[in-house]
Amino acid sequence: MTEYQHITGDEAVLRDGTIKLHGAEGFEGMRKAGRLAAEILDALVPLVKPGVTTQELDDVVREMTLDAGAVPATLGYRGFTHSCCISINHVVCHGIPSSKVIKDGDILNIDVTPLLDGWHGDTSRMYVAGDASIKARRLIDVTYECLMIGVDMARPGIRLGDISAAIQKHAESHRYGVVREFCGHGVGRLFHDSPEVVHAGKAGTGPELKPGMFFTIEPMINLGKPAVKMLNDGWTAVTRDKSLTAQFEHSIGITEDGREIFTESPKGLHQPPYQG
Ligand code: MF3
Ligand code: CO
Ligand code: CO
Repeated sequence: MTEYQHITGDEAVLRDGTIKLHGAEGFEGMRKAGRLAAEILDALVPLVKPGVTTQELDDVVREMTLDAGAVPATLGYRGFTHSCCISINHVVCHGIPSSKVIKDGDILNIDVTPLLDGWHGDTSRMYVAGDASIKARRLIDVTYECLMIGVDMARPGIRLGDISAAIQKHAESHRYGVVREFCGHGVGRLFHDSPEVVHAGKAGTGPELKPGMFFTIEPMINLGKPAVKMLNDGWTAVTRDKSLTAQFEHSIGITEDGREIFTESPKGLHQPPYQG
C-alpha cells in the first residue's frame, strides 16, 4: 500500500518510505535548484568537444555550483568524489570524471545535482563531441523522446506504471533495450527518495500521482540489449554487450493539472544538436 505524507516542515528530510506531497515552499525550492542545474548543463554545451577531459568538465560543474551558493550533491555521496557523473559511449551511468580525453564522435551524458538551500535539482542531458554516427544520434533522439513522453504524461490520477509502460513501449518500438537496474526516484530535500520510478513496467500499476509529488524520470536506453555490468570501481555501469547507451533526466513536480519541469533549459538547449 502506498502511503503519502503532506509536507509542512522538517519532516521532509526523513527517509521513511512515504511519498511526500510538497507545498508552495517545496515548489519554490525545487524551482531554484532545478534552474541552477539546468544552467550548469547549458554552460557545458560549448565546452564539450574533442580534446577536453571529463575532469575539466567536472571542475566547471563544481565551480559553477559553488559560485551559486550550492553544493554538488554527488560530492561525498556514498564515497563518490566528484561533482557530476560523466558517462561516455557504452557507459550507462555514474561514470567518474577523470583524465580521460573526449574524442571526436563520442556521445556522453552529464548528470548534475546541485543542492541549493536544501533542495536537489537532478538533471542530465546527452552531449555529442564533434560528429557522431547516425545510429548514435538516433539513439539520443529516441531517448529524449522517452523522457518527454513520461514527463508529458505526468499528472494527477495516472499511475507511475503508466509512465514506465509508455517509455518502454517507445524504446522497444525502436528495438532498443531499457535498462532495469537503475531508475528515477523521489527527489527534494533528499537526493534519492521514494518512490522508485522505473522505466519499464505495466500500465495501471504503481502509486497514483498526486499534486505535490516530486520525482525524476531518467530513462537509460541501450542500442543493444538491456543488460548492464558494473566495473570494479564500484560505480561505473556499462552495457554488457558494449553497445552505445543514452540517458536524459528531469526533476518534475506534480501540479493540480499537470507537472512543472524544474530542470528545463533556460536557453532552450533541450537535446543535441545544441547549435539550433
Ligand atoms: N544523479 C544521479 C541520479 O540521477 C545519481 C548520481 S549518484 C553518484 O540519480 F554518486 F553516482 F554521483
Ligand atoms: Co536522478
Ligand atoms: Co541525476
